[in-house]
Amino acid sequence: MEHTESNITPAPMLEARNLTKVYEDGIKALDNLNLKVEPGKIFAMLGGNGAGKTTAINLFLDFIQPTEGMALINGINANKEPLEAKKHVAFVSENVQLYPNFTAMQNVDFFVRLGGKTHYSREQYEAALHRVGLQSSAFDKKLKDFSKGMRQKTGIAIAILKDAPAILLDEPTSGLDPKAGIEFIRLIGELRNEGKAILMSTHDIFRAKEISDHVGILNNGILMAEHSSDDLRGVDLENLYVEYMAGYMEHTESPIANALKPS
Ligand SMILES: Nc1ncnc2c1ncn2[C@@H]1O[C@H](COP(=O)(O)OP(=O)(O)OP(=O)(O)O)[C@@H](O)[C@H]1O
Ligand SMILES: [Mg+2]
Repeated sequence: MEHTESNITPAPMLEARNLTKVYEDGIKALDNLNLKVEPGKIFAMLGGNGAGKTTAINLFLDFIQPTEGMALINGINANKEPLEAKKHVAFVSENVQLYPNFTAMQNVDFFVRLGGKTHYSREQYEAALHRVGLQSSAFDKKLKDFSKGMRQKTGIAIAILKDAPAILLDEPTSGLDPKAGIEFIRLIGELRNEGKAILMSTHDIFRAKEISDHVGILNNGILMAEHSSDDLRGVDLENLYVEYMAGYMEHTESPIANALKPS
């Protein structure tokens, strides 16, 4: 069969297939999640506290094992071949885990080398730290004297320098001041344009709508809805979110929800 533009779907860089997690205490934190993130796309997961967002991200990182289903990074099963899978992914969490007694520069050097990138110069490290908005006076200060947002910026610089095709972000803007938050969103837009596949969790509905190619709404471990940015154009996402959370979708007469119901 002849291939045309329209029948070639790019392979997803990140994919959850029937991904399910039941914790030891019986809590089903993630229920049959299916999602795909292609190169050059941002997928934002919205959902209340305890919806299962961090659980989903932690499964991709092999911090925890799935009960059923699989998490794939560049087609590699993240829980069966974690070392291979992790070569293709960079991660920034809300609480970046770096070495408090190392300076920002030492942390960058250590973790970037650990990620297999050994060719960078100090100037390139500095450029990355500048790019994420860390003040240059902090480059050679120890992390233990950093604010949460400064630690987060250092973590983001490491993720950029790792130059992985997939990026996982768990509430990346939570510790950032408004200016840094705006700059960060611009930065992940740039990374998307460079072809990275980005899966992020966020509580920031407005930013999610502004930046994402796909928005998924999780509730009690279930992906209630997934919309492309085209679907969402002109839609009041905040109201839509509230309606999903309230479980109105089945019965609602809301024009917003009705407009987005699958036909
Ligand atoms: N290690 C664990 N052991 C048992 N239950 C857990 C564990 N981690 C999370 N859970 C439970 O799994 C569910 C999903 O939690 P998760 O952290 O994935 O939510 P979240 O969407 O990231 O929430 P938040 O917005 O607050 O970060 C919650 O009910 C939580 O109590
Ligand atoms: Mg979380």
